[in-house]
Amino acid sequence: MTTALITGSTAGIGAAFARRLAAGGHDLVLVARDTKRLREQATELHDRHGIEAEVLTADLATDTGIEAVAARLGERRSPVDLLINNAGFGNKGRFLDVSMADELTMLKVHCEAVLRLTSAATAAMRERGRGGVVNVASVAAFVPRGTYGASKAWVVQFTQGVAKDLAGSGVRLMALCPGFVRTEFHERAGMGTDNIPNWMWLDADKLVTAALDDLARGKSLSIPDPRYKALMGAAKLVPRGMLGGITSRTGRKYGPR
Ligand SMILES: NC(=O)c1ccc[n+]([C@@H]2O[C@H](COP(=O)([O-])OP(=O)(O)OC[C@H]3O[C@@H](n4cnc5c(N)ncnc54)[C@H](OP(=O)(O)O)[C@@H]3O)[C@@H](O)[C@H]2O)c1
Repeated sequence: MTTALITGSTAGIGAAFARRLAAGGHDLVLVARDTKRLREQATELHDRHGIEAEVLTADLATDTGIEAVAARLGERRSPVDLLINNAGFGNKGRFLDVSMADELTMLKVHCEAVLRLTSAATAAMRERGRGGVVNVASVAAFVPRGTYGASKAWVVQFTQGVAKDLAGSGVRLMALCPGFVRTEFHERAGMGTDNIPNWMWLDADKLVTAALDDLARGKSLSIPDPRYKALMGAAKLVPRGMLGGITSRTGRKYGPR
């Protein structure tokens, strides 16, 4: 039996990780801002799968929230074996349409929280000689897509770098790069999704199954869907300047509005 801590566990991809890990018999530490929703989720997963589910209310856009989760990850008496850094969000609008406060909040949640929680978790895991971290990035990491894409590019670079640094320690790290997934993400950001073609949507439960398989195989980067693997392979062949133009045009045509 192991324990997994999932940030952003109450909706979308985080909730799919929680369902999948609970079904596999893992105890959980569930992290998000909405305590009522966390408690309902913990009760449901406990009743359905007989696992222990702790609730940890924390806003990862604040130092206090990050410190509370880091402290839980560092607890030696009830260790966390798997950390899923998943909490995240989108801002609607292009650069200069988004306030500086919102841009900085994104960097706090997507980068600073991921850095500090990965550090707290891996320090404890290295002492025990085992553990895993999945940092949820995005395929937006590979194309020029403003602060969101830049923050997710940081997640990929950081995760793969630390995976190399900790190689041989028993601690595995993997960046997970989904394409469009049907979750609350776009609605929360006030983005319409009508113009995103059906074939581009991924199912959160299938995504999580593929991601955990990739983690078990020891991958440090997971793009779990063949369609997106092909798209990202093609994107590598295009010069960066041209890619920026293409992604901006196709983003306007097919991306969330
Ligand atoms: N959906 C997509 O198309 C897509 C594609 C690629 C990558 N991703 C990435 O996947 C991750 C999960 O996204 P999702 O689509 O599952 O989103 P979602 O359905 O909107 O769920 C977001 C989760 O994060 C929590 N959260 C948000 N801000 C938080 C904060 N400041 N502190 C703590 N928890 C916070 C939310 O709960 P509370 O509101 O209660 O805090 C919720 O549980 C994100 O990192 C996102 O960038 C999503």
